[in-house]
Amino acid sequence: MTTSITPAPLEIHPRLASALPERLLHPGRLLWTPKELAELTGTAAAELATPLRRLLRFDAERRWWARLALTDGVEVWLLSWLPGQRTAPHDHGGAAGAFTVLQGELTEEYRYPGGPIRQRVHAAGRPIGFGPGRAHRVGNTFAAPAASVHAYSPPLVRTREYSSLADVPAEPPPVPVVLPR
Ligand SMILES: [Fe+2]
Repeated sequence: MTTSITPAPLEIHPRLASALPERLLHPGRLLWTPKELAELTGTAAAELATPLRRLLRFDAERRWWARLALTDGVEVWLLSWLPGQRTAPHDHGGAAGAFTVLQGELTEEYRYPGGPIRQRVHAAGRPIGFGPGRAHRVGNTFAAPAASVHAYSPPLVRTREYSSLADVPAEPPPVPVVLPR
C-alpha cells in the first residue's frame, strides 16, 4: 500500500475560477490575522468588482450570500443587503473576520467582551478586520442596496447568535479547534 501527499484543498466558486488568483488565498496559510483578512477582502472587492457584481443577487425574502472560496485557512463570502436587511447579533465563535463593502453602505453595531456597544458606518472600499472577540449586528440602514465581501479564519466555525448585544458574555469565545478537512 502506498501513501500519497495531497495538496491543501482549495475551492473557488466556479464563476470566479478564472478571476480569483490562487495566490490571493495563500493556500498554505492556516491561520489568518485580522489584517491579512482585511487585505484579502479589500483586494477582492477592488480587483474582482466586475465578476462579483455579475455574481451578485438580491432577495427580498432573505439575505442572499454565496461562498467565493474555501481553503484550510480561510473562507470568503459575498453577501447582499437590501435596505432593512440585517443579521442577528452574533459573534464568529472564536474566528477572526473581516469585510469590505463592495457597494452601498453598511451599519455595524459591535461590542467586545465587557465593553460598550458602539456603532459604525462602513463605506465602500474600506476594509475592516477584527479579532475573535468582536460580536456585532450588521445591516443596511440606508436606501440603496448594498453588497460586501467577508472572510473568516479559521473557516467553517459556527457563529453564535444572541438576542441582543447586551447579552454577549464577558469572556471572549475560546479559540476553536480546527481539524484538517
Ligand atoms: Fe459577523
